[in-house]
Amino acid sequence: MKFFLDSAHVQEIEYALKMWNLDGVTTNPRHVQASGKPFLTVIREIGALFAGTDKPISVEVNPHFTDYEKMVAEGEILAAISPNFVIKLPATEAGFKAVAVLKEKGIRSNLTLVFSAAQALQAMRMGAYFISPFIGWKEANGEEVQSFVEEILDIRDNYGFDSEIIVAAVRNGRQIVDAAVAGADIVTAGLAVYKEAFDHPYTGVGLQKFQEFWDQTPYK
Ligand code: E4P
Repeated sequence: MKFFLDSAHVQEIEYALKMWNLDGVTTNPRHVQASGKPFLTVIREIGALFAGTDKPISVEVNPHFTDYEKMVAEGEILAAISPNFVIKLPATEAGFKAVAVLKEKGIRSNLTLVFSAAQALQAMRMGAYFISPFIGWKEANGEEVQSFVEEILDIRDNYGFDSEIIVAAVRNGRQIVDAAVAGADIVTAGLAVYKEAFDHPYTGVGLQKFQEFWDQTPYK
């Protein structure tokens, strides 16, 4: 399973690339705002980090757009900035249509804010490259998410669609594992979520014990 970082923080992305063999990045307007930089400045900086790789970076069109034509026009501008950019579009009727138009132009899209398997199915039919079911938001709303992810994967496999499924809005290591057990292609999560997931208190406890034994043992 691929690990994407959900962030627009350049130092975080550099860290995850160096330490974790990061597979890609997803951004959204919240992350861009948190970066403290203008939208175009920060996405150009992220694009430069991945120059010469085939790792995808999802960048989101203006969320105020309700016409697919505007989404397509901005998608074309963004895609021209970096070949790594995948255009993030909302799972709305206009967003689905924009997926199909951008695909005809050879531009990849990531359908975001996906909360139902029916939305995912329509995104697949229209040719989405990535589909991002937001499991953290659904779970916070008291909804069951494992069968939601499984249904999306079953639909994809039943019809041989080639969209890759990014399990998104991931909050902890359990959700990463659940996504992997379901067979999701990708998870995207923040730096702190991965750091916590890669750690276990017993590893530290055990390491300390082994250090004590090591110190009591001659090397030769
Ligand atoms: C995914 O592509 C989204 O950017 C992300 O997972 C949104 O969720 P969050 O901001 O609540 O984590």
